[in-house]
Amino acid sequence: MSDIILGIESSCDDTSAAVIKDGILMSNVIASQKVHEAYGGVVPELASRVHQQNIVPVVSEALRQAGIDRHDLSAIAYTRGPGLLGSLHVGTSFAKGMAIGLNIPLIDVNHLHGHVLAHFIKETETDETPEFPYLCLLISGGNSQIVLVRSPFDMEIMGRTIDDAAGEAFDKCAKVMGLPYPGGPHIDRLASEGDASRFKFSKPHIPGYDYSFSGLKTSFLYTLRDSIKTDPDFVEKNKADLCASLQKTIIDILLAKLKPAIIESGVKDVAIGGGVSANSGVRDAIAKLCDNLGTRAWIPARKFTTDNAAMVAMAGYFKYKNKDFSDLGLPPFARTSI
Ligand code: KG4
Repeated sequence: MSDIILGIESSCDDTSAAVIKDGILMSNVIASQKVHEAYGGVVPELASRVHQQNIVPVVSEALRQAGIDRHDLSAIAYTRGPGLLGSLHVGTSFAKGMAIGLNIPLIDVNHLHGHVLAHFIKETETDETPEFPYLCLLISGGNSQIVLVRSPFDMEIMGRTIDDAAGEAFDKCAKVMGLPYPGGPHIDRLASEGDASRFKFSKPHIPGYDYSFSGLKTSFLYTLRDSIKTDPDFVEKNKADLCASLQKTIIDILLAKLKPAIIESGVKDVAIGGGVSANSGVRDAIAKLCDNLGTRAWIPARKFTTDNAAMVAMAGYFKYKNKDFSDLGLPPFARTSI
């Protein structure tokens, strides 16, 4: 009999459902929420309401695209946290109800494990996957971590941000330049047209493998504030150079910790995950770094960088194989690391 896992993701503003059959991805449906654009950030209450509207059609569509009848499912994996509590409640309640209705196991998944294990999603039998142990640079809107992944169930955080995440640095700096939310993809696009050596922003000096992005954010804001005093059109005139210089500084900060972590851990495989791993500059820089160090770089397809249920189904698949099932009474959680 086949092992068929339905994955459900609702941690922030994307409602997603995916089906993995015997380790192969059969479908991955994502409904993004446009309602937040007008507010310049995700509005939690609106997010949960839209999840409620989306969850039934999204799950139905994922099953339809996979050609799977719900009665053939082996288990249901869902994101338990971290994320927005209201949003998580929608996916959690739906997953529990469906697991009870079908009398199949429920599997809770840590959203961050999903990002780290996204590299095991196979779309065809021949797709390659990383070898354990590997390092994963997990960079998203809420996290920046260097994770040593010994197995799907054994992960150690070597470094984490002590303040803002890399995605927040992108989004907050984009906001003060008047770019739409989320700003990361806009900075990525504009950076390709700019001169990255034009502006210098401050870089952190903290020990170990930890990250900090709040100093960069402050120095970016000061540059804008001081320049606007003498030229009100400063941002408009220099947007591409500002974006290119900001992106380069973020990449320099990320690599300054990742490089020694790769060398010290002695891993042969290095992966990136999370929304910021969609960034063109980050992807190029990691590929180059790995090339120089003689390690393999695992750069995910862009559709698996931002929130998606395929990674939840994948992490759930590992747990299913390990018979690691969840109690129906588990509440969602808003905050945690790996
Ligand atoms: O993993 P993710 O979808 O979810 C959260 O952590 O919420 O990451 C979202 C983050 C946002 O900060 C967004 O600006 C950033 O990923 N992002 C990017 C790019 N695409 C998404 N940042 C830089 N360049 C991109 N191309």
